[in-house]
Amino acid sequence: MKRILLPIFLLLFGFSFLQKANSQIASQDAIDAKVHALLKKMTLDEKVAQLNQLSNPYYQTGAGANSREAQSFDQMIEQGQIGSFLNVLGADETRRLQTIAVEKSRLGIPLIFGYDVIHGFKTMFPIPLAEAASFDRAAMEKSARIAAIEASANGLHWTFAPMVDISRDARWGRIMEGAGEDVYLNEQAAIARVKGFQGNDLAAPNTIAACAKHFAAYGASVAGRDYAAVDISERSLREVIFPPFKAALDAGVATFMSSFNTINGVPASGNKWLLTDILRKEWGFKGFVVSDWNSLGEMLPHGNVETAYDVAETGINAGVDMDMEGRIYINEIKKLLDDKKISIQQIDEMVSRILRVKYQLGLFDHPYQYCDKKKQDELTLHPDHLKASREIARKSLVLLKNDNKVLPLPKKGSTIAVIGPLADDNDSPLGNWRGIAESNSAVSLLDGIRQAVGNDSKVLYAEGCRLVNNSKQHFFSQLEVNNTDRSGFAEAIAIAHQADVVVMALGETAFMSGECRSYADISLKGLQAELLAEIHKTGKPIVLTLFNGRPMVLTDVVDQADALLVCWLPGSEAGHAIADVLFGDYNPSGKLPASFPYHVGQVPIYYEQLNSGRPYDPNPEGFSTKYRDIPNAPLFAFGKGLSYTEFRYDNLQLNKKEITKNESLDISVTITNTGNYDGEEVVQLYIRDIAGKGISRPMMQLKGFEKVFLAKGESKKVNFKITANDLAFWRLDETWAPEAGEFLLMIGSASDDIRLKDQFSYKE
Ligand code: NOJ
Repeated sequence: MKRILLPIFLLLFGFSFLQKANSQIASQDAIDAKVHALLKKMTLDEKVAQLNQLSNPYYQTGAGANSREAQSFDQMIEQGQIGSFLNVLGADETRRLQTIAVEKSRLGIPLIFGYDVIHGFKTMFPIPLAEAASFDRAAMEKSARIAAIEASANGLHWTFAPMVDISRDARWGRIMEGAGEDVYLNEQAAIARVKGFQGNDLAAPNTIAACAKHFAAYGASVAGRDYAAVDISERSLREVIFPPFKAALDAGVATFMSSFNTINGVPASGNKWLLTDILRKEWGFKGFVVSDWNSLGEMLPHGNVETAYDVAETGINAGVDMDMEGRIYINEIKKLLDDKKISIQQIDEMVSRILRVKYQLGLFDHPYQYCDKKKQDELTLHPDHLKASREIARKSLVLLKNDNKVLPLPKKGSTIAVIGPLADDNDSPLGNWRGIAESNSAVSLLDGIRQAVGNDSKVLYAEGCRLVNNSKQHFFSQLEVNNTDRSGFAEAIAIAHQADVVVMALGETAFMSGECRSYADISLKGLQAELLAEIHKTGKPIVLTLFNGRPMVLTDVVDQADALLVCWLPGSEAGHAIADVLFGDYNPSGKLPASFPYHVGQVPIYYEQLNSGRPYDPNPEGFSTKYRDIPNAPLFAFGKGLSYTEFRYDNLQLNKKEITKNESLDISVTITNTGNYDGEEVVQLYIRDIAGKGISRPMMQLKGFEKVFLAKGESKKVNFKITANDLAFWRLDETWAPEAGEFLLMIGSASDDIRLKDQFSYKE
C-alpha cells in the first residue's frame, strides 16, 4: 500500500509545488508588465518622485537634513514629487495622504509608508538582541508577525527591519538591535524576522515589506563608535558580515538599506562593489535599496565626493534606488541626465524596482487596505499580542548565576525587598525603538513581583538611587547620570535588613542603548555598583536582575549577587515575564547571543576566534597570546545560560564519518533532564575545520542549535544535519566552497561548555 501511496503523494505534492512556483513566476511577470506599461506613461519628474522619500517633519528619527522647514506635503504629493514617506502613520493620516496620491496626482501612483517597526509597534517585544537570546526561531517570527499586524493596521506598508548587522563590540549602542555576535544565529534571526514581517503573501493586508539593514558592516565601526569608519577584510565581510544579509535575501526580503559607514574608505551608500556587484550581480537581489537617513548626503562630510551633484551620481551608479530624507536625487537627477553622467535606463530601472514592490504589496489594487481605522483600533495592543509578548520575553531572559539555588523564589510566606533605580521603571523595558508605545506603559519589575505574590508575601520597595537625573527621556535626550545623590541608600539598606531576599534591578535605561548611544564604559553607571555593595553588606541573598541593551562588564559586581538574571529590555510585559522566571512559573532557557566581556579592553570579543601561532598558555612566563592583567576569556561566554534543572548530554552519533559535496551528515545526541524541574535546553552544535589549505579557520563556529523541552527525567534524541554548504567559506581561490579535510564536531550547552566531541571528514 505504502509503495503505491508514496509516488501518488510525491506526484501531488510535487505538482502543487510546481503549480505554486509557476503561479509566482506568472504573477511576477504580470507585475513586470504593469510596471513597464506605467513607466512608459511617467514623466521624468514623476519618476524622480518615486526615488524620493521624506520624513514627517514633526517626527524625526534622524538628524539634520532640511525637513524641519514648513512644507506642504499635500501639494507635493498632488504634483507627483514624493513617492514614499517615513514616520507618517495612523490609518487616518495615511489614508488622507494616500487619497491625494491615488486620486489627485496625475497617474495615481500610491505612496509607500515606511517606519521603524523594530521590536514591536505598540505592543513592545524584547529588544532584538534579547529575543535572539531565546534561540527560538518561532518566537522571533511571531513577534515580527504581530508587529506587522499592528503596523499594517496603522497604515504602514514597510518596516526598516530586521537589522542584521553582526556586532562584536558592546560599546556600539546598536548592538541591541541585532542578534549579537554570531553568524549562524544572525542568519536564523534574519530568516525568522523576514518571514514574520512579510508572511507568505506581501499583498495580504496584514503583512509589510521588510528591509535588511544596514548594508553593510555598520556594526563593525572602529572602536564601537556609532557612524565611525569600518576597516575590514573582504574575507570578514563575506564570512561574517554578509551571510545574515544573504539569508534575509533568500528568505525573500523586499528591500535593503545601505549603511552610513565607510567600508575601507568608500561609503557604503556610494559603494558600487557592495550594492551592485555583490548585491545585485552576485546575489541576484531584485528588490530596491533605500539609503539610510541622508546617508547619501553624508558622503559630503565623508569627503569621498565634493558636491551634492557628485553625491547623486555616486549613489545612483552605486545602486541606491531611494533617497531617504536626503533630497539629493530630487535636486540633482535632471542635471546628471543632461550631463550624461547617468542614463535614463538607470532611472527607469530604479523606479521599476520601487514600483514592483508597491505592486507586490497590493497598493495599486487596494491602496487603502492598510488604512482601516476599525482594524487599527481592534488590533493595536490586542490582549493576545500582550500575551505573546510575555511569553517571548520570558524565553529571552538569561540566567547566568544561581548560587545555592537561590532561584526560584517561593511565592508564599517571605519578605522580598525590591531595590534599585530600574525596579519601579515602567518605561525602560520598552526599549529604544519603541514604535508608538506610550511612555511608561510597560509592567515594571516591582508591579510584576507584587502581582505574582499577591498577599502571600510581603514586598518592600526602595529606589536606592536614581540612575539618571532626567525626569523624561526620549530618542534625542542627553542623559545625565546621577553620580552624587546617595540620599536613598539608607532606606534601601533598611528594607534589605527586613527582607528574606533582595531583588535588585540595575543596569541601563532604554535610552542608554540604540542609535548614537555608544558608550566607552559599559559597566554599571552612576552609583549602582556602590548601592549593590551596600546591600551586599546586609548579608541578605541578592538576586540581581539586569536591564540592559548590550552585554555589560559585570566583573566587579557579580560576586556580590547570588543570582544574576539578564533581563535586557524585555518589552511591554517585562515585570510579568521576569516574575514568571523569578518564581519558577517559567524555567529560564535563554542563552547569551553575545559574550559579556571581562573587561571593556577585550572588545571586540567573540568566541569565533582564529587560533594564534602562540596559543593561550596559562603559564605566566610563556610567550603566548594573552593579556598581562586580565584573562582572555569573557566573563560570560556566547551561548551560556543556566536553567533551574540540569541536562546530561550523551550518545553522540554520526551516520557516517565522511561526506562529499552532495551528501549530508546526520548527527544525533541524547539529552536528558536530570534535575528537578521541567525545562528547555538549547543544544548547540559547533564545528572546527582543523586545517585549511592556506587559510586558518576559526576554532569554533556555530552551525546548528535546537531548543528542546524536557520534562524532568525525560530523555530526547536531538537531530542535526550538516551539509557541504555548512562547511563552506571564502577560500584563497576566492570561491565559496568547503575544502577537503578533517572537521571537529562539538556539541554543548554553551561555547565554553562543550559536552561531546567527534570528528568527520569532507571529501571533494
Ligand atoms: C537611521 C537609522 O540608522 C535607520 O536604522 C533607520 O531606519 C532610519 N534612521 C529611519 O528612522
